[in-house]
Amino acid sequence: VDLQPFNTMTIAARARYFCAATTLEELREALSFAQEQQLPILPLGGGSNIVLTGDFPGLALHIGLQGLSFESLSDGVRIRAAAGENWHQLVMRSVESGYGGLENLALIPGNIGAAPIQNIGAYGVELKDSFEQLTAMEVASGNLVTFSAEECQFGYRDSLFKNAGKDRYLICEVVLKLRAEWRPQASYPALQQYFEERGLAVDSLTPSQVAGAVIDIRNSKLPNPVEIPNAGSFFKNPLVNGSQYARLKAQHPQLVAFAAGEHWKLAAGWLIDQAGWRGFRRDGVGVHDRQALVLVNPGHCCGRQVVALAEDIARDVQQKFGVTLEAEPRFYP
Ligand code: EPU
Repeated sequence: VDLQPFNTMTIAARARYFCAATTLEELREALSFAQEQQLPILPLGGGSNIVLTGDFPGLALHIGLQGLSFESLSDGVRIRAAAGENWHQLVMRSVESGYGGLENLALIPGNIGAAPIQNIGAYGVELKDSFEQLTAMEVASGNLVTFSAEECQFGYRDSLFKNAGKDRYLICEVVLKLRAEWRPQASYPALQQYFEERGLAVDSLTPSQVAGAVIDIRNSKLPNPVEIPNAGSFFKNPLVNGSQYARLKAQHPQLVAFAAGEHWKLAAGWLIDQAGWRGFRRDGVGVHDRQALVLVNPGHCCGRQVVALAEDIARDVQQKFGVTLEAEPRFYP
C-alpha cells in the first residue's frame, strides 16, 4: 500500500501490509497478525509527525478509533477522546463549550493518539498541563494498560513512549481534565504582542479569543500541510547549559533563547535562519520561508532527500554555533 496519503510530508513509500482499525478488536487482531508474521509496526494517526525514509517492511496500522465525550465535574470538565479523533476539533469543541486549557494548542495537526507521545505543546502550554490518564494497548499482548500523567514521564516534546515505552504500546484513549478556574496563558512573546497590538487586556480574554489569536499567529508563520507538505517543526529546540548559553550570547547578541530551569532552550528556527537556510530550496524540498524550523516538501520528494537536507542544515548549525540539532518527527523504517 502506498503511504503517501497517510503522511503530511506526502512522501511516497510503500508498506508491505496495511490495516485500518476502527475498533479495539480490530486493533488486537492486527497486532496478533503482526506478531505471528514477526512484522514491525508503523502506527498511523494524522501522519503529521513522521518521515518515511524508505519502504516499510512491516504493517502500517491506521488507528481510527472514534469517540469523544465531555463529563461535567463540580470543578471543571473531563474529556475522554479516542485516539483517532482530530486534535484541533477537540480543542475547538472545548473552547466553544467555554472551557479553557487547550486554546493555546489550537491548530496543532494530528490526532489525539499521537498527542501524548511527544507531549504536544505550543505558546507556553503543553498537553501534560491538562492530561489525566491514557489507555494504551500493549503491542506484545493486546492487553489494555492505563498510564497516569506521572507514569507517562512527560518532558519537552518527550514521554515514556519515546523512551522505555517506544514501540511497545498503541495509545487508544486519552483523558483530559480542564478546570473551571482558568486564566489565559499569554506570556509567550508572539501572543503577548498580538494582544498588545489590539489593545486587549489579557485578564479579560476568553478561551475562544486566545484560540483565535493562536490560529492567526500559526497561520501567519506555519505552512498549512494541506497546501504545502510539512511535518511541523523539524527539529527540537536544543537545550544548552549556562556556560554554553553565555558563550553564544556573547558571540550573537540577537540570539533567541528561553530560560528552562538551569538550562536555556535555544530557538532552533533562529539558528537555522541565521545560518542562511530560511527559504532555501533544493529539488522539491526546502525550508519554509516564514519559519526556518519547518522543512517543506512541495515537490513530494522521497524521504532520503528530506533527510539529506535536514542533515546538511544540522551540520551547518553545528559548525556555525557548536549546537547539535535533534530531529523532532519520527523516522520510519
Ligand atoms: N525565529 C527566527 N527565524 C525563523 C524562525 C524563528 O528568527 O525562521 C525566531 C522567532 O523570531 C522567535 C523564535 O525564533 O523569536 C521562536 O520562534 P517561534 O515562536 O515560531 O517558535 P519555535 O520555537 O520555532 C516552537 C515549537 C512549535 C510551536 C511554537 C510556538 C518546537 C520544536 N517547536 O517553535 O511547535 O508551535 O514554538 O509555541 O518546540 C511543532 O512542534 O511541530 C511546532 C510547530
